[in-house]
Amino acid sequence: MLVLGIESSCDETAAAVVEDACRVRSSAVASQVDIHARFGGVVPELAGRAHVEAILPAITRALDEAGVTLDDLEAIAVGHRPGLVGALLVGVAAAKSLAWTLGVPLIGVDHVQAHLYAGLLGRSEPRWPALGLVVSGGHTTLYRCEAPHRLSRLGSTIDDAVGEAYDKAASTLGLAYPGGPEIDRLAELPGADDRAVDLPISRLAPGSLDLSFSGLKTSLLYAARGVPGGRDRAAPPELTPERVRDLAASFQRAAVKAIMLKLERAFEHVGGTEACPTLLTGGGVTANTRLRRDLAEFAEQRGLDLRLPELRFCVDNAAMIAGLGARRLAEGERSGLDLEAVPVAAC
Ligand code: KG4
Ligand code: ZN
Repeated sequence: MLVLGIESSCDETAAAVVEDACRVRSSAVASQVDIHARFGGVVPELAGRAHVEAILPAITRALDEAGVTLDDLEAIAVGHRPGLVGALLVGVAAAKSLAWTLGVPLIGVDHVQAHLYAGLLGRSEPRWPALGLVVSGGHTTLYRCEAPHRLSRLGSTIDDAVGEAYDKAASTLGLAYPGGPEIDRLAELPGADDRAVDLPISRLAPGSLDLSFSGLKTSLLYAARGVPGGRDRAAPPELTPERVRDLAASFQRAAVKAIMLKLERAFEHVGGTEACPTLLTGGGVTANTRLRRDLAEFAEQRGLDLRLPELRFCVDNAAMIAGLGARRLAEGERSGLDLEAVPVAAC
C-alpha cells in the first residue's frame, strides 16, 4: 500500500511516500528555520503562512522522488494533532482535498505517536509491549505502548519540554536558533568539561515518572549571567568560547541524565525488560549525541531492543506520519472529511 503522509504541525512542511507502512520511498522536508531565526523562536502566524506556500511543492517533491503520481496513492495520512493550530490547518486542508479528489481514505495521525513510529521505519516489527520515550521541542513524555498507536502515558514534563530547554539555554549562551544541535556540537568538542558547573538534575518526588527542565534552564542562566539581585554579586566568569563550550557540556550532561533517570524508573515501573522488551524513542532530541550514546548503553546492559530513529527521522518529517497512518489504515481505521486540527496530543 502506498500512502502519502503530510506534516505541518510546527515549522517544517513535509510530505513523504511510504510503502507498506515501513519502506520509505521519499521524504521531503522544507524547513522554515530561516524565517523564524531572527525572532529566536517559531512565530505561529508566519509558520501558517509559510506552510501555505510550501505545502504543494513539498507534495510534488515527495511524489517525484518516490517515482509515483497522485493516481498511485492508496491513502492520505496527515498529522492533525498536536501543534500550532494555524499550521496544522494547512496540512489538514491539503490532505482532505487530496483524499476527496482522489477518492482514497484519509487518516489523521497524532504527531507525538508518529515520533515513536519513526524508529520502526525500515525495520522489522519489534516485540510488544514497548516503553516509549518522546523527546522533542514540544513534548517530553514516557509511554507504555501495546502497539504503535495504543499508548498510555506514564509521565511527562511538568514545565518545559527538553528541546525547548535546549533552545532557551542556547539563547542564554548567545548561540543561534534552533540551539539544540549547537549545544550538542559544543558539548562534544574535545576538552569540553561537563562538570565545569554543577547544574541540577531534576528527580521530582520519589517514584515520579514526570520530568522538569525549567530549573535546569534557570540555573544555566544564572551560571552564565549571574544571579539577579543575589547576595553573591560577584560577576560570573566571562563568557569566553571555552566557558560557553563548558556550560553547554554541563547543560547537556544534566539534561540527558534527567531523562535517563526517568527511563530507569519507568522500566522498574513496567516490570523490567522481561515485561517490556522494546524501547521506542523519537523526537528531535533523539538526534542528540550524548542521549543516543547513553540510550545505546542502557539498552545493551539490559538486553533491550532499542529503536532509535535514523537521524533524518528524528526531527519533524512526514514519513513517520505516513508509516503510522498506514498501520492504522491496515487495521480498518479511517477519518472523515470532518477531521479537525487539534492543538493538544491524544494522550
Ligand atoms: O521533533 P522536533 O523536530 O519538533 C517538535 O515536535 O517539537 O524537535 C525539535 C527540537 C528542537 O528543540 C531542537 O533544538 C531539538 O529538537 N534538537 C536537538 C538536537 N537536534 C534537534 N536537541 C539536542 N540535541 C540535538 N542534536
Ligand atoms: Zn515533532
